[in-house]
Amino acid sequence: MNFLSLIEAKRDGQVFTTEQIRQIVSNYTAGNIPDYQMASLLMAIYFQGLNTKETSALTLAMRDSGDVLRFPNDPRPLVDKHSTGGVGDKVSLPLAPLLACLGFRVPMISGRGLGITGGTLDKLESISGLSTALPVEKIVSIVQTVGCVICGQTAQMVPADKGLYALRDVTGTVPSIPLITASILSKKLAENLDALVLDVKFGAAAFMPTIDKADELAQAMVKLGIECGVNTRALVTNMDRPLGRAAGNWLEVKESVDCLEGKGPSDLEELVIAFAATLLLQTKKAIHLKEARAQAVACLASGRPRQKWDEMIVAQGGDLEVFNRKLAREHTAPVVVELSAEVDGFLAKVNPRVIGEVVRDLGGGRFTKETIINHDVGIDMLLPAGEDVSFDTVLCRVHATDKAQAETALARLKSAFEFSELQPTLPPLIQKVVQ
Ligand code: URA
Repeated sequence: MNFLSLIEAKRDGQVFTTEQIRQIVSNYTAGNIPDYQMASLLMAIYFQGLNTKETSALTLAMRDSGDVLRFPNDPRPLVDKHSTGGVGDKVSLPLAPLLACLGFRVPMISGRGLGITGGTLDKLESISGLSTALPVEKIVSIVQTVGCVICGQTAQMVPADKGLYALRDVTGTVPSIPLITASILSKKLAENLDALVLDVKFGAAAFMPTIDKADELAQAMVKLGIECGVNTRALVTNMDRPLGRAAGNWLEVKESVDCLEGKGPSDLEELVIAFAATLLLQTKKAIHLKEARAQAVACLASGRPRQKWDEMIVAQGGDLEVFNRKLAREHTAPVVVELSAEVDGFLAKVNPRVIGEVVRDLGGGRFTKETIINHDVGIDMLLPAGEDVSFDTVLCRVHATDKAQAETALARLKSAFEFSELQPTLPPLIQKVVQ
């Protein structure tokens, strides 16, 4: 295939046929297209876009680049949630076991960190022994027995997205509505779901800067998901502040366990309950939102999802003893330092972009496809916006590999916090439901 002419065609704003898109995806997956040419095409798509038909063709071609999961008949609906990515966004971790306890089957195929946003797989891999690269048969068997699994798309599943996702991460081509739509939906369609709920984020640390752009992405994904036969809804949520009190791989696992034990931060719990309730409504396991929320809240409080979490990590090869010992430690990074306020008043804003960049620079995220993640570094004890502060109130803690790195992070973090004399009013976390 003459790939150069396809790059030129898209660069000049031409529309691809479904067949051309199939060819692009299958040749890239087969290794016939070098990354530099694919990167160039992605940049052309970033600027020129793809129309609805092209996006649908790309999504289906990516889904069909590998195996699609097939599950035995079972009364438990197959459901999943996917986020467009944020800083401190660990919702998937407590949500999967909660959904399993609510009577769903959850084949959660997740991604790695992208840009400054964290990735569910990177977080889970901070658990000793746990594997996120599971063969298709194992994914199906864990879903059938445990009820939930969180893993990556293996060589057999959506291989096209695996390559493209990593390439987009390091070529500045992530924030494109058609590329995000195809990336997320190809993976979700390969799970053969009954219902899907999407977390489409907007704000300083989201790929979509404004609520309008997030709404546009949510509408595109919901429409395409429904067209492809999956009951799809989206919540448009605020990423102008970090979610929870921790950002960084292991620190977020720890906070997720806190959430499962009823000790998690309220914003994290709010989203976990909201997504569970939305799926209960979508699958008609509840008729009204109030009833759905009550079911989700009671289930989380029962402690069963916390046990389900242990079952899930053991099924994925995690060493429970090592995990519990690690959980009991106050920190696992060699150096921990605090950043304190130097004013009296209120914390008006916490810039999640700065937090995400600092975590990445500490080694918790990637600059290139080859970067090896440091799971232990990050930030915790993040004070939420709206709290009152006085001189010496701890704003956050930095977990670093050495003192010099910690000092650099502290200096940078000062710019993340803004203060005010009056108590700020915070916009709601969940801004809109798209269905
Ligand atoms: N999450 C994905 O899976 N893909 C994207 O492109 C962005 C977020």
